[in-house]
Amino acid sequence: MKKTLWIRLKQYEDRSYPIVIGTLLLPSLAKELRRRPLAHSYALISDSTVMRLYGKNLLSLMQEQGLRVKAISFPAGEANKNRRTKARLEDRMLKLGFGRDSCIIALGGGVTGDLAGYVAATYQRGIPFIQIPTTLLAMVDASVGGKTGIDLPAGKNLLGAFYQPKRVYISLDTLDTLAERQFLSGLAEVIKSAIIRDQAFFSYLEKNYRGILSRDKRVLGTIVKKSCAIKAAVVEADEYEEDLRRILNYGHTIGHALEAAGAYRIPHGFAVSLGMALEGKLACELGFFPKAHLERQNRLLKKLGLPVSSRGLRKKVRPETLLDMMKSDKKVRAGRIEFVLPLRIGKMKKVRDQVGIPVPEEILQKILIRALK
Ligand SMILES: NC(=O)c1ccc[n+]([C@@H]2O[C@H](COP(=O)([O-])OP(=O)(O)OC[C@H]3O[C@@H](n4cnc5c(N)ncnc54)[C@H](O)[C@@H]3O)[C@@H](O)[C@H]2O)c1
Ligand SMILES: [Zn+2]
Repeated sequence: MKKTLWIRLKQYEDRSYPIVIGTLLLPSLAKELRRRPLAHSYALISDSTVMRLYGKNLLSLMQEQGLRVKAISFPAGEANKNRRTKARLEDRMLKLGFGRDSCIIALGGGVTGDLAGYVAATYQRGIPFIQIPTTLLAMVDASVGGKTGIDLPAGKNLLGAFYQPKRVYISLDTLDTLAERQFLSGLAEVIKSAIIRDQAFFSYLEKNYRGILSRDKRVLGTIVKKSCAIKAAVVEADEYEEDLRRILNYGHTIGHALEAAGAYRIPHGFAVSLGMALEGKLACELGFFPKAHLERQNRLLKKLGLPVSSRGLRKKVRPETLLDMMKSDKKVRAGRIEFVLPLRIGKMKKVRDQVGIPVPEEILQKILIRALK
């Protein structure tokens, strides 16, 4: 005898969340949490640097509002986005008595957001969390969209969960203390957003590059808002990366391989910038991305202090190594290296209504050899 029972699950709950962008938001955030609490108690998680710069202040602002909050920090750096740090944070939370009625506040860069978000996704089967990004990269990319996770020795972000935050607060003044390289690295993702979706935004970046580089708050407000809106629209259309969401990986297939080959000594955005220069070239070579658009892309990258020539990597990185890395990347589908490639500035190419473009290995090889030899 065989009998089948069904458990019928539907997602009724609305998981929409606000992204609040402004300056000096931390005091208003503390007040808002008192007015509209998300939990009985809060675990404020930051890396050591951000805890010193902003975490202590947020902690006292929240305490002044009578909120139950405890701070937990971990050593800064990508090297700590791992299982060991996750376990330590969880043990600490247990020890401090955080239960299912608590909420995590991830205050910091993408490392903090990914790590604390992943703790939130699994702690006692999942508790709510808030993102307060403090690097440009985290503001325009990592804090929005619900990807959380940690690195394994075998590769980046190999363990994780799709888990959306309840709220995102972006306080632009926190960018004042950010190191120049970190800031420029975030700009690569801003330019990426414009290329994949919005040609008018690309023109805005071209016109306002001085304001961007001098970190003019009004200009920063615009570029953060625009980039978040682009990411939000893409994530709304394809939360679990079945197809469209992959366009956010423009420049990242080669970029990730460059990062790994350079043992993560190149900042992420610099690798993405080089990746966009090479993947743009690939799209040109395949005959659909006009050369004038490639040149326009590269000009803006250079104006904003980002690299477009891989010559500096000659001798350090071999084209064959990059190819092997791309083949083992989790973005490879059915054994073929697929890329997301621009059709023109502001629009990505589709083939049979899919954004993944399989690329013949010989063409890719040719471009890598030319770039690195
Ligand atoms: N989840 C996603 O969708 C997504 C998207 C893109 C990137 N990421 C991840 O994000 C990570 C990179 O993020 P990141 O570049 O923000 O790195 P990060 O979090 O390590 O921050 C970089 C450095 O800046 C310091 N810092 C942070 N805010 C500061 C501030 N306001 N002033 C001074 N110093 C400050 C940090 O202490 C750290 O040393 C990677 O692990 C990447 O995989 C995730
Ligand atoms: Zn990126």
